[in-house]
Formats: sequence, C-alpha cells, structure tokens
Amino acid sequence: MPYYGPDFGLLQQRDPEIAQVLLDELDRVRGGIQLIASENFTSPAVLAALGSTLTNKYAEGYPGRRYYGGCEVVDRAERLAISRAKELFGAEHANVQPHSGASANLAAYAALLQPGDTMLAMALPHGGHLTHGSKVNFSGKWFDVIAYGVRRDTELIDYDEVRALALRHRPKVIVCGATAYPRLVNFSIFRDIADEVGAWLLADVAHTIGLMAGGVIPSAVPYADVVTFTTHKALRGPRGGGILCTREVAARVDRAVFPFVQGGPLMHAVAAKAVAFGEALRPEFADYARQVVANARALCDTLAEEGMRPVSGGTDSHLALIDLRALGVTGAEAERRCAAAAITLNRNVIPYDPEPPAVTSGVRVGTPCVTTQGMGPEELKEVATLVAQAVRYPDTVAEVRRRVSELLVIHQPYLSEL
Ligand SMILES: Cc1ncc(COP(=O)(O)O)c(C=O)c1O
Repeated sequence: MPYYGPDFGLLQQRDPEIAQVLLDELDRVRGGIQLIASENFTSPAVLAALGSTLTNKYAEGYPGRRYYGGCEVVDRAERLAISRAKELFGAEHANVQPHSGASANLAAYAALLQPGDTMLAMALPHGGHLTHGSKVNFSGKWFDVIAYGVRRDTELIDYDEVRALALRHRPKVIVCGATAYPRLVNFSIFRDIADEVGAWLLADVAHTIGLMAGGVIPSAVPYADVVTFTTHKALRGPRGGGILCTREVAARVDRAVFPFVQGGPLMHAVAAKAVAFGEALRPEFADYARQVVANARALCDTLAEEGMRPVSGGTDSHLALIDLRALGVTGAEAERRCAAAAITLNRNVIPYDPEPPAVTSGVRVGTPCVTTQGMGPEELKEVATLVAQAVRYPDTVAEVRRRVSELLVIHQPYLSEL
C-alpha cells in the first residue's frame, strides 16, 4: 500500500500564504547562525513522523487502556517511545505524553503537591524557569514557593542556602534544574537535602536531557523521584515534553498527565519522540552530545577572550551566559545587533542583574543547533569572534554578515541528511 505523507506542492496550491511562511522560515535558519540554547534541528525522520496521519487519532488513556477504539496501532508507537525512553535513561517509568516542558512540570506538581503546599525551587532571575514558581505562572500562584539562587561571588548554586531554606520551610517538593545555568547541577547534594527534610526531589532537566542521553554529563535519574524534560532542545526530538520517575510515583504521575492535566495525547508527536529516543540510543548521539559541550566551551572561552564575561567563569554544558556590562551594551541591544548580523541569540538576565527582564545585562548562547549543522570548535571560535564584533562594532555589520554566510556555505541545516 502506498504511504501518504506531507506534500508541499499541495500546500503551495491550497494555502500559498502558509506555504510561504514555511519557505521563509527555512530560509531564515539557513541564512543565519542559530545560537538559541533551547533550540535544535530535528532529523528528517523525526519530521516525517510529525507530519503523519497519526495526528488524527484520539487515544485518551495509555497503551492497552484507552478510552477510544482503534488505538491498537498507535499503542505500538507509545509502547516503543516508553521502552526506548526507559532504556535510554535507565528509568523505572516513563510518561511520553506531556505536550511540552511546562505541561510536564504542571503534571509533576499535580502528582506530588496540593494547592498551597510549599516547594523550593531556583529563582527565575538566577536561572530558574517560569514554571518553577514565578508569580506570573500557575506555579507561583498555586503553591507557596521559596526560591534559592546562586552565590554573588561564584555565581554557582548556593547549596548551603538550599539546605538552610529546606530546613526552615520544610518544602514538600524541591525542584532542581534550570533554564539559564551553565554549570552542572549536583543532584547528589539535592538528594541529600531532600532526604534530610523528607521532600520529593523533582529534577527539571528540560535543557540538559540531551547531554544526559549522550552520557556526557551525570544523569538526574538515579537521584530524583521525578525527572521532567523537553524533547526538542539538546535531545533533538519533536517539540514536546516527558516525565521519568520511580515505580513508587508512576501511577500518580500517569494520572496527573491524564486525565488531570491533559486530554488526548498528540500521537504524531509521541511517534516522533520514539524516533528521537531511538536516534539518541545510537552511538553517534553520544558523539553529538560530546561535541555540543566541546563547542560550548570553545564558544565561551573565545567570547571571554573578546571581553565578554561568562557568568560563573565558563560552562560545563551546552550553553553560556554572558555578562555584557563591561562593554556597556545591554542584552536587548546585543540581541538586536546580532540579529542584524544574522546571528540569533536571546537576551537573558544574569544573576543580580541591575537591568529589568526586558532589557537585561546579558545574553544566553548555546550550541545544539550549530553542532547539528556539523560545526566544530574551530568554527565556534569564529562564531564567537563574529558575535563579539557584531555586539561591539555594529557599524561593521556587513562584514559580519559576509563572514556568517561564508561559515554557512558548508554548514546549512536541512540541505542534506543530518
Ligand atoms: C528548565 C525548563 N523547564 C521547562 C521549560 C518549558 O518547556 P516548554 O517551552 O516546552 O513548555 C523550559 C523551556 O525552556 C525550561 O528551560
């Protein structure tokens, strides 16, 4: 039987406006350098699963226990995704249905907390995520959130403060993991603190899950009761989320994802997650993860040589946070100047930032995309000098753009098999 899948020619005929959006976006990523630390380029196989007729199927429930008929085929996709995730991360239980990292966190909290309960998590201005207790997010409204941060001198997590706050406030959940923290999180210390106060430990490794999959940084799985993650960042899968947990809380986590937080799972995305987990199980993925970190070091070290100070003095991961105050340029202005030079990055608050979040004193840069494009440390040194030139000498933007296009001649995404 012939397969039926995406037909771009048909889209151009039926909806030229949206077809043009797709073309322009591809053009945008091919025409510049993407340094957004939370983005990546999925493989063509992941894209094929995403663009499939599995999007049509309602499958509320879990494999073998659905509330709709006709789920026997999509059940196979979810079972594969679950078993591959468990194998990849050595987890006792996996839930692959969360639509996003935020949904995964909502479900994890729902599994472990009641409204009004106390949780301890990293402050947003110090690198935590909105879903870790920000007042503008459900997490900050529904729970009593105590925030820990990084030390002013080292810009590293202050584990003494975490322990002191945990002892004083007796949280039911301690959250570790961050969105803009370049260093490794010591899950073992967090586990000890959680045990000391009888709290659950939730590791939100949305950013670093791909590095854990590649075995290049220590995994949170042996330490945390619940691990939430995204599939679209360094892991290089489809946009989505997931949860790994111990057998002890497995049933609570599953009930929290469905029916508490979500309805029908996105079966095309679940199938695409299975593809991504399968790709991450191959030895090449470990090479990729190693390269992502080596590239981040090269980028970070060269930026430092250019007078752009890395917060905490460097990076152990896929990202660096850069303090621009010595250059007298705000994060927002640096983001604009880089955009003009076809380099995409994001402004980011730095710890103890004197500027408001819309302005910031820093930028965040990451290497998952450029590494997928095949760049290595030498190219990343060149990328760093281009970022520095774009930020410091905006009147030389034409030259930077020219050098960016030279780099991209052999490193464009989606020109050949990734
Ligand atoms: C630590 C952390 N948790 C959760 C999320 C939320 O993921 P999503 O954007 O898929 O909801 C992010 C996204 O950047 C993140 O960095």
